[in-house]
Amino acid sequence: MGIVKKIFGIVGAEKLADQLFHSWIKMKEKIQYSCIYPIIIHVPFFQNIYFLFSKSFAHEKKMFLMARRQYLKSKYTKTQNLFLLRRNIHRIEKGLLMKERRSVFALDYIQETVDMLACVFKEHGIDAQIQWAFDVLNEYFSVTDSVPVILKAKEEFKLLVQPTLAAEPFVPYQNFADRKNYFETFKALAHQRKSIRYFDKNNIPERTKVDEAVVLAGLAPSSCNRQPFQFRIVDEPALLKKLVDLPGGTRGFANQIAAMIVVVGQMNVSPTLADRHLMYVDGSLASMSLMFALESMGIGTCPLNWPEDKKKDDKVSKLLGLKGYERPIMMIAYGYADEQEKVACSVRKSIDELRKYN
Ligand SMILES: Cc1cc2nc3c(=O)[nH]c(=O)nc-3n(C[C@H](O)[C@H](O)[C@H](O)COP(=O)(O)O)c2cc1C
Repeated sequence: MGIVKKIFGIVGAEKLADQLFHSWIKMKEKIQYSCIYPIIIHVPFFQNIYFLFSKSFAHEKKMFLMARRQYLKSKYTKTQNLFLLRRNIHRIEKGLLMKERRSVFALDYIQETVDMLACVFKEHGIDAQIQWAFDVLNEYFSVTDSVPVILKAKEEFKLLVQPTLAAEPFVPYQNFADRKNYFETFKALAHQRKSIRYFDKNNIPERTKVDEAVVLAGLAPSSCNRQPFQFRIVDEPALLKKLVDLPGGTRGFANQIAAMIVVVGQMNVSPTLADRHLMYVDGSLASMSLMFALESMGIGTCPLNWPEDKKKDDKVSKLLGLKGYERPIMMIAYGYADEQEKVACSVRKSIDELRKYN
């Protein structure tokens, strides 16, 4: 369209080019919804033809293949894969807390888990995750029957130098004794949070505060505890300047943004196509927690849309040094609000539109 417009511009008919373009779009859309879509939505073969020359999904397909390769590579070359370890330990923990616990379970992945723990422990050293893995496996081996597969894994587990156990081991526990009711506090927080688009650029939130919020965001639920995301915090002005204009939705206030978080999804947490949406779901859940955590500290946020756009993905990947199986899910502008400015009402759906029982 750009070239056509330029040509028309030379002969002074730019407006005509615009009109023709919009008429063409309208006609195309009418033909699509009335003639083409009613037929192809029922015939997968036609759908394949329709998307044959489309690059819309190519980016995601390539990303999936890179993620799967990375996952399998780490599995078979025995390099550390914390996603796999967290997932397997989580599955074993679930097995341990079953009401009617079986005396033998996790046979198909207990060896893989011990191997991965050995590998991660060697490369990663001890931290809470590794301690948790040791504690859960200790519990597992003490309550399961000694069938050959378990015995073999247990022997190898025993060879690992066990870290000093924490006073309270990380194994399934009951947490209902000290529960409090936070409804009123949460209600106030949920009503208070609004998207902030104008920030005090002279007062960037301290990293210690942001880190505290990130730790809380990390408590968000994620599928099998895999947490396929990372928050990339951009509070350095030169880098921020290169990023703020990329999400289209910052038009009109990009120069007011004090700092930004790029929520990066990591597709390499699972080797299956069925799990390809995990990073979007889990990344979004954690992002909401992050925004609430920041709000609770008086730091305002504005989520920023990140549409499907390979060129923009590539730009961010280059700026942040992302891997081929990582991509931005969304961005979050953050900072102390410029209190002279307004926020939008953004009235919501009614309860009847929001929910439907059964
Ligand atoms: C995924 C997502 C993307 C968003 N993208 C933008 C954006 O690009 N620009 C913008 O100004 N607001 C953006 N918003 C903010 C919404 O407009 C806002 O959340 C909504 O209108 C509700 O208003 P509130 O957040 O002030 O309650 C986005 C929100 C979400 C959840």
